[in-house]
Amino acid sequence: MADLVSMDKIVALCKRRGFIFASSEIYGGLGSTYDYGHYGVLFKQNVKNEWWRAMLQERDDIVALDSAILQHPRTWEASGHLAGFTDPMVDCRTCGQRFRADHLHDLQCPRKPSKPPGDGPDCSLTEARDFNLMFETTMGPVKDSGATVYLRPETAQGIFVNFKNVLQFSRKKPPFGIAQIGKSFRNEITPGNFVFRTREFEQMEMEFFVAPDEAPQWYEHWKQARMEWYVELGLRPDHLRLREHDPDELSHYSSATADVEYLFPIGWSELEGIANRGDFDLTQHAEYSGEKLEYFDQQTKEHYVPHVIEPAAGADRATLAFLVDAYDEEEIDTSSGAQGGEQRTVLKLHPRLAPVKVAVLPLVRKEGQPEVAREIVAALRGRMQTEYDAGGSIGKRYRRQDEIGTPFCVTVDHQTLEDRTVTVRERDSLGQDRVAIGELGDVLAAWLAQPWVSPKLGPT
Ligand code: GAP
Repeated sequence: MADLVSMDKIVALCKRRGFIFASSEIYGGLGSTYDYGHYGVLFKQNVKNEWWRAMLQERDDIVALDSAILQHPRTWEASGHLAGFTDPMVDCRTCGQRFRADHLHDLQCPRKPSKPPGDGPDCSLTEARDFNLMFETTMGPVKDSGATVYLRPETAQGIFVNFKNVLQFSRKKPPFGIAQIGKSFRNEITPGNFVFRTREFEQMEMEFFVAPDEAPQWYEHWKQARMEWYVELGLRPDHLRLREHDPDELSHYSSATADVEYLFPIGWSELEGIANRGDFDLTQHAEYSGEKLEYFDQQTKEHYVPHVIEPAAGADRATLAFLVDAYDEEEIDTSSGAQGGEQRTVLKLHPRLAPVKVAVLPLVRKEGQPEVAREIVAALRGRMQTEYDAGGSIGKRYRRQDEIGTPFCVTVDHQTLEDRTVTVRERDSLGQDRVAIGELGDVLAAWLAQPWVSPKLGPT
């Protein structure tokens, strides 16, 4: 627990380096919504690309889908969200604030922050009421006569309602999966902790359809595969755990669920859920739509409703976990040849997740160095996300690249003009190598492709 970074430091870095900003900031912000800046977009996109890679590129039993955010309202009747996607809520008659009744002990009374809501001297809480978390809007030009529709609270239902389409057109048969990344919306009563819990967020969900008797073994498979994904991308295994739900925690549709939990600055919290959803969703949608949602097994000549194993992850929450895990503050070692005795903040991100792979820095802004640096950028940018940076002292530029997690800094100096070589500085070890410009692209690509483990784990 000793190396846990505070959420305040993460928020400050995200703002300082343009990863994530509070949304509508000039108007005072809008409760728990966030905007991603340049590096945040590149970083989160890399997280999503890695998820697609694991789902699509590295297997041939999963296909992609991008379903609409607005779906027929019957979808949410069938899924159970209209009736049951609720949190218990209480209002305080004194301060007018609303709280989740089941989280009161983790919350602060706005008037007496040392106490939970309800325990302050003037608190007056109402009885708990169920509050539906779906955002409602109206479809059609006239609000009064239009139909009420909902912003989807999960991407999963878009997959179930397309089961028949995909089965017909993808030439897949169980076991097979449908994967989707997209925005979901939940009117959370008490969002917070930065992008951990927001009202608008991105999910990465995959529904894996299997023969009923194979469901338990696929549930085990996906729990393991999802843990391995996080570890391969650099999360320290001792900050990651799998927690099986107790029977009284299970959702109405699930016979087994496990959470991948990460040790966030707020403590162990859910990063992803893996659920055995049985045949609940396809059966419900078949009943509400009147369509048959089954598979005909040619061998046994039997129809059956496939069971579903669902790994459901959050793109924003995963991005936050990678950020927290990578964050480090350290004193730079003088023997490294870099500026000694200096403090640096650095994101030790897996190179595949780093928003920028290489920064090219002319040592001075004269003697033709910027021109050579630009030439190098032009040669590299088709192969990897490359940045040119000539502003400020070289030390300051290194610090900037460390804070956004850039694995390599290429410095163009006096020697470059003589022998067409550059210095390549590696982010984690601070080691420096002299590389010929003509070989730079291949050398960097090879280094980026090497297996990587978090240097925070120490020598392996
Ligand atoms: N289809 C199942 C489902 O949606 P969930 O556990 O409610 O399951 C899956 O959500 C993942 O989506 C969570 O593990 C989390 O990573 C992310 N998520 C859920 N609510 C979120 C919120 N309000 N803000 C950010 N991420 C959220």
